[in-house]
Amino acid sequence: MSLPPGFLDELRNRVPISRIVGRRVTWDLRKSNQAKGDWWAPCPFHSEKTASFHVDDQKGFYYCFGCHAKGDALGFLKEAEGMSFMDAVAALAAEAGLPMPERTPRERQQTDRRAQLVEVMDSAVRWFRLQLQTGAGAGARDYLAGRGLDRDTLERFDIGFAPDLRQGLIRHLAQAGVPEALAVEAGVAIKPDDGGAAYDRFRGRIIFPIRDGRGRCISFGGRAMDPNARAKYLNGPETALFDKGRNLYNLAPARAAVAKGAPLVVAEGYMDVIALVRAGIEGAVAPLGTAITEDQLRLMWRVSPEPVIALDGDAAGLRAAMRLIDLALPLTGPGQALRFALLPAGQDPDDLVRAGGAGAMRAVLDQAQPLADLLWQRETDGRSFDSPERKAALDKALADAVARIQDAATREHYAAAFKRKRWALFAPARAERGRFARRGEPQPPAPQTRASTLVAADPGEALIEAVILALCATHPALVGRVEARLERLDPADPGRAALVHDLLAGAMSAAGRAALDAVMADPHVRSAPGVAHPAASDDAAQQMLLNAFDRIEARRAAREEIARAEAEMEGLVDEGLTWRVTQSARARQQADHPDLGGDSGVMGDQRSLADQFAAARAEAEALMKRRRR
Ligand code: UTP
Ligand code: MN
Repeated sequence: MSLPPGFLDELRNRVPISRIVGRRVTWDLRKSNQAKGDWWAPCPFHSEKTASFHVDDQKGFYYCFGCHAKGDALGFLKEAEGMSFMDAVAALAAEAGLPMPERTPRERQQTDRRAQLVEVMDSAVRWFRLQLQTGAGAGARDYLAGRGLDRDTLERFDIGFAPDLRQGLIRHLAQAGVPEALAVEAGVAIKPDDGGAAYDRFRGRIIFPIRDGRGRCISFGGRAMDPNARAKYLNGPETALFDKGRNLYNLAPARAAVAKGAPLVVAEGYMDVIALVRAGIEGAVAPLGTAITEDQLRLMWRVSPEPVIALDGDAAGLRAAMRLIDLALPLTGPGQALRFALLPAGQDPDDLVRAGGAGAMRAVLDQAQPLADLLWQRETDGRSFDSPERKAALDKALADAVARIQDAATREHYAAAFKRKRWALFAPARAERGRFARRGEPQPPAPQTRASTLVAADPGEALIEAVILALCATHPALVGRVEARLERLDPADPGRAALVHDLLAGAMSAAGRAALDAVMADPHVRSAPGVAHPAASDDAAQQMLLNAFDRIEARRAAREEIARAEAEMEGLVDEGLTWRVTQSARARQQADHPDLGGDSGVMGDQRSLADQFAAARAEAEALMKRRRR
């Protein structure tokens, strides 16, 4: 209906919003300032004990600092009372003592038509319910019982049965005075193209009434009982009442549950919602036979700032999640987040509740991951980033995804989170360093602590590392220019590793700060050019920094060269050992007992690198000589 200009403003001015909201909340009168029209209460949209819900009569707005629910008086009536916009306007007009503007005849006709359709739907619900009690409904009752639905549940969801009749419902409606055309318009009957008589849309199916946010029946979902039926589920068509993409199954009860503190859980199907509610998870909804739409996302966010998407644990469920990520990404932000709960393989919520009870389902919901984590998984799972090109491809994919986020603060946090994850992913595994031989084979007993002894054995390298860290910390602008090299620095000291991480992520953690303090405490570091004069130009500091990287990288290359040679020697030593064991077995056979006790400590880990190297070589040579003999 068209409203005269200024009518809504007039309404808002006449009725203080606190009068509307006050019927739904209990004001915190100590926190409120009534004289100023400044009101506070515990939020009616999410569960809380403190009063973070603010109502401002001057501005005519409410805002919750906890769940970010916000709006004007009309919005409040829509959200809290589930009213349509027009109903909210009418309610506010009555409150203001203003007459509603006259509707045009066409508008009146439309409203009347919708009211008629609602009546048709109501009588259809009653008839389907009744059919479930009849003899013809016996099979359906058995089926429902077999799926664990008791009388209470059937009652609560108004579940019914459409018998396998060509003209069951339509006859009943005709007797009640509903013309064929109206039944067709309501979507419960189908008019064949050949002009023949209309027939029932739902035949031989369990019936789930679909209701809108105000609880009015607007369509039906029908589940086939015959496993060979053409479609397992059949949903009503789009009608004047029913817009698939703008409604959710079980919306009104779920909204009430969320208002009491329950999470909003989004499942895939009718039976899942019913199973969840039966398990005490009452804030459950489902889309209506289609993938989740943008309208449905917005609808969910009006109910809860962080719906949990419960996905079937199969490929289709994961695909649906990936589509949803793409849909949600541009819209995500404060008060508009998503979490994803991944069900065990091959199970939907109905299966899981049945198999593991409410506890199993709750456990899965508690583990729900934020959208950002799922996005990361999508881009990295099952892939290897062992080349610069692959790494660059990941960087690009992540940057593209982040760029789609419209909310600036959220976008920054995504970028920072991905930077951290990326750093951890690309950093070479510390334990791998210096071990070139026998990957995947049993480790030799002696040199397990080699990596740390090597680092300790090269204080020069540790100092260069410290200078690099200090330069980056005093000249943050340079970090971007040496990002890849900084990543490869990969300090063995966990504190320094945290510092590298923080420098790359652009935010200091406690561990990073402590490591930086330790680094700066070294007088050699403090007096290094560029660090000593932090005011010095970035250019000079950059020169220092690049130089330091060159030096440490050269040293490491040399050290790795030695490690490689050493590993080759180890191979020889092992050959020798094998030979010795064989020899000793043979000797034992000959009742000869050679003493092998003196051969331990080939690679004593406390010795310096050079000593180790020399000892290994001597040992190997000695063994080879003995072998040749
Ligand atoms: P599923 O095939 O996962 O079925 O469809 P389900 O919910 O587990 O159903 P049960 O447990 O076998 O009874 C999930 C949802 O997809 C829509 C329905 O909304 C269904 O609830 N759907 C499925 C259809 O619209 N048509 C179909 O043929 C199948
Ligand atoms: Mn199922």
